[in-house]
Amino acid sequence: MAEQRSIGAERVEAAAEGAPEGAAGESVRIAAAAPAADHVALHWAAHPRGLAASRFHFVWLRANCRCAECLHPHTWERTIDSYALDPAIRPAEIAAAEEGRALALRWPDGHETRLAAGWLAARDYDGGARRADMRAVRSWDAAALLADPPEHRWEAVTTGDADLRLMLTDLRERGLAIVRGVPPQDGEVERVARRIAFLRETNFGVGFRVENKPDPNNVAYTALELKAHTDLPNRESPPGIQFLHCHRADAAGGESLLVDGFRAAERLRDEAPEAFARLTRTALPFRFVDADWDIRWRAPTIRLDADGDFEEVRYHDALTAPLDVPFEEMGPLYDALRRFTAILREPQMELRLKLQPGDLIAFQNRRVLHGRGAFDPNAGLRKLEGCYVDCDDAWSRLRVLERSAGG
Ligand code: OGA
Ligand code: ZN
Ligand code: ZN
Repeated sequence: MAEQRSIGAERVEAAAEGAPEGAAGESVRIAAAAPAADHVALHWAAHPRGLAASRFHFVWLRANCRCAECLHPHTWERTIDSYALDPAIRPAEIAAAEEGRALALRWPDGHETRLAAGWLAARDYDGGARRADMRAVRSWDAAALLADPPEHRWEAVTTGDADLRLMLTDLRERGLAIVRGVPPQDGEVERVARRIAFLRETNFGVGFRVENKPDPNNVAYTALELKAHTDLPNRESPPGIQFLHCHRADAAGGESLLVDGFRAAERLRDEAPEAFARLTRTALPFRFVDADWDIRWRAPTIRLDADGDFEEVRYHDALTAPLDVPFEEMGPLYDALRRFTAILREPQMELRLKLQPGDLIAFQNRRVLHGRGAFDPNAGLRKLEGCYVDCDDAWSRLRVLERSAGG
């Protein structure tokens, strides 16, 4: 039978897998286990979402045995070979145990598996728990965002884990967090970003300074307008989260602009489904060229994940190389890009704010587009400092903070 593990290790593993163990998990009960040809139907006596029954394949149940022989007790990595299991495996015995708190299985070779009812309910791929770790994305237009601004204070996020967790939750769900009161000095943006994860270095450096420069290799380093865009679309993996911190805002103009690319993509899907489909299947060529670099990648404007949910928006006309789709597709592609652009530029979609010294914005760069108005470099200084981290590291930080908060 399963070797006992310490409560501490169980909790880490439960949190690491996003299980609602706590109160919800403990209240789950199995009334009966009804085996069929290749699976068992569990009839729930009590279920957090009120489900009557859920099915689990036998091969899945065997592959996910939690005992110390099947799952390494320290690394939580599987030590059996899922794909070497008999595809027709079937337990010799299967029953609800511990008053319905667990499912007990005995396999033909005598191996025993015990799975907690709450653990099973949290991974119920038949009943809506699929991708339970993928938090609901809350897309927004300007009015929705301003009704509940994702604002945070520097003192709080740099000293308190609870406030850092709230900031990361805004970044995860809405793709944007605004932090006020960050000392407008060199290196402070990196200190905030390093609270979350290590920094993502690029051809612009570990950190970068956005100001009007004499010999710019990037339009951001001029005083020109920057239309809403995502950074570094010319890379295989554009950075996941961008931080921009305002040090000086004396120049007239230069207001920041933010648009939720996922909301714009939802609108395009509803209003022009053919244009939407075209932008998900047509890779655009992107390129960045300067004296030292020639960095190119091809990717679609809107990328969906395997379930059809939004994964990425990549949009930056200035860095788009000459389009090179087949002749008859060129006209429709320009039409589709114009249609998406029109949505992105609707005033109701755009959050506009003039950053003041001490303001920092952090946003998902593969979702939320950013830009700025032109400014007058002769009428005062404008200076921002920026850096990037990646989403997988940031969401890891969020999960670990939730774990220690007793989630
Ligand atoms: C950038 C950028 C915006 C700004 O550096 O990538 O878009 O407000 N800057 O200057
Ligand atoms: Zn086992
Ligand atoms: Zn940019």
